[in-house]
Amino acid sequence: MKVAIIGAGNMGGAIARGLAQGSLVKCHDIIVSDLSQDKLSQLQTDYPEVKTTTNNQKAVDEANLIFLVVKPWLVKSVLEELHFTKDKVLISVASGVEIKELSEYLSVDIPIYRMIPNTAISELAGVCLLSSSSAVSSELTHSILNVLNEMGMAMLIPESKLAAATALTSCGIAYVFKYVEASVKAGVELGFSAQDSIRMISQTIDGAAKILLNNETHPSLEIDKVTTPGGITIKGINELEHAGFVSAIIRAIKASS
Ligand SMILES: NC(=O)c1ccc[n+]([C@@H]2O[C@H](COP(=O)([O-])OP(=O)(O)OC[C@H]3O[C@@H](n4cnc5c(N)ncnc54)[C@H](OP(=O)(O)O)[C@@H]3O)[C@@H](O)[C@H]2O)c1
Repeated sequence: MKVAIIGAGNMGGAIARGLAQGSLVKCHDIIVSDLSQDKLSQLQTDYPEVKTTTNNQKAVDEANLIFLVVKPWLVKSVLEELHFTKDKVLISVASGVEIKELSEYLSVDIPIYRMIPNTAISELAGVCLLSSSSAVSSELTHSILNVLNEMGMAMLIPESKLAAATALTSCGIAYVFKYVEASVKAGVELGFSAQDSIRMISQTIDGAAKILLNNETHPSLEIDKVTTPGGITIKGINELEHAGFVSAIIRAIKASS
């Protein structure tokens, strides 16, 4: 697979770095396009084999899988300036721009996907939500999911549920950081450095995630295992309940969807 990434900002750069670390797409088969030479130069310093250009059409011509990673309000103008041949596949990463709109901006009928990643793809631990137009083959979708799985976990989601799933994953990562930020404040008050607090809390989150991902279990069961009757953990859990922690998380996720 030859891949083009149009837009080398936060997310486009993370996708390029994530793909470059995987095995299914070779670095020399990735071409990244951006208006800013500075961003491209930074990327090439990190991954010298990745090709870069300031010409979007050149990137499209050299690839068959094209990730569009510009801001949503630029999607129309960027796509309308480009010429796609029938052998191309478009994956738009722009939030909120529907497949129907994307197809209207293209002059040819090609397979179109929307993808919503979260920022952890740069660490190969992201979530990539993928939705497709109806006119795509299951083989193509399977190949794309394989590529995306190398950056963490990829899931096929109906487009109608993409916004809700985005709240859990792309917005959700910010809520996890908020939990870490709050815990660090507590850690510092208890006498640990911020850096030590971050290491302890992050490893704890990583461990909790692995327990849930590697076993058929549920958070309530895992909480039950660590709350000894009359012990310190249940005191803390009940403080969270009194402070409205569960309600706050539900409201945050619903507000973001
Ligand atoms: N960040 C996230 O967590 C996240 C999550 C899911 C989806 N997304 C989506 O990802 C997209 C990109 O977001 P971002 O945060 O990566 O934005 P960003 O950092 O601003 O990156 C966009 C990049 O595209 C470049 N660009 C602008 N016009 C261009 C053109 N005509 N041709 C080629 N490149 C062009 C920009 O250059 P200049 O800076 O010079 O304008 C910038 O480097 C958005 O549509 C967003 O909805 C982001």
